[in-house]
Amino acid sequence: MRILAIESSCDETGVAIYDTQQRCLLANELASQIDAHACFGGVVPELASREHCRILPRMVDAAMQQAAIDWQALDAVAVTSGPGLMGALLVGSSYARAAATVHGLPLLPVHHLEGHILAFGLQENLPPMPMIALLVSGGHTLLVRVDGIGRYRLLGQTLDDAAGECFDKSARLLGLPYPGGPQLSALARQGHAGRFTLPRPMLRKDNLDFSFSGLKTAVLHAANTLDKHDTQGHADLAREVETAICEVLVNKTLRACQQEKIAHVVLAGGVAANQQLRQHLQQQASRQDIACYLPALSYCTDNAAMIAYAAACRLQAGLDRQSKDWDANPRQSLFQN
Ligand code: KG4
Ligand code: ZN
Repeated sequence: MRILAIESSCDETGVAIYDTQQRCLLANELASQIDAHACFGGVVPELASREHCRILPRMVDAAMQQAAIDWQALDAVAVTSGPGLMGALLVGSSYARAAATVHGLPLLPVHHLEGHILAFGLQENLPPMPMIALLVSGGHTLLVRVDGIGRYRLLGQTLDDAAGECFDKSARLLGLPYPGGPQLSALARQGHAGRFTLPRPMLRKDNLDFSFSGLKTAVLHAANTLDKHDTQGHADLAREVETAICEVLVNKTLRACQQEKIAHVVLAGGVAANQQLRQHLQQQASRQDIACYLPALSYCTDNAAMIAYAAACRLQAGLDRQSKDWDANPRQSLFQN
């Protein structure tokens, strides 16, 4: 079976084709809109929709060419149904719906976060379940117990800003361009520990929730003490921001493993591309005999391959939600599927 998938929930346009028999990608196209949004310092929703509209048809053509197939060789169309930006989701879902109708193919709506959680399966077998997923992206910070495909239980989440949002906003306070996460992380590599001490929010709270908005305010105050020519000071602060975020994420993830008595943890979402988070989670998990599964960097950030793969997993698990009765949903929950 060959599934063509479209991802357009935020500022990346993705089109991928996955072959379930060969268990491999036949095409994986991704176009970033960074240049279009950079001068505004963040994603402009209306601009994102227009960019998806402009580029999606030619990306589908490019994916077909890369896979050397045509519509007749496809068996289904999958698309991100939510969560994300309403206009951006509508572009992908309208295109997918029209293409599926014209070519007589089933249409499979996929939850964006389910795509992230299962993305590791694109490179190796999925970890044994139950497993814990730490899902950290620009809009979400969730600890999830995964009992099977489509069987997700929320263990903890952020009460305010997401981890990626905290990276992005802190980067902005340090004068770094959008997208801030990777930029802040690059600057942090030149920083030294010790000059700044930021809070580790919720670390001592006996639950699995997070809060990052106070940390962002602390970064604001620390940044205000810096001379704008003090490049080393900026790097030192970037390092402390990254360490504070990662420390909280790693600590709560391992606590989730202990609470649920589960020894398999998968990292997912854009922030999972962060090197310090990957290293620290892996090191500290292995000390507690917990196996850590890290997707390749290109499968952490938004892409359509993960949507195609999640659709394949859902079909295999008998969860093909082929109903025509769904709409793009910017606030779609992972826990009511
Ligand atoms: O999953 P994703 O690509 O899009 C959403 O669904 O939100 O995540 C994007 C987020 C952004 O906040 C971005 O700054 C962050 O992931 N990010 C990183 C890194 N790469 C991406 N944050 C820290 N370090 C990185 N290397
Ligand atoms: Zn995402």
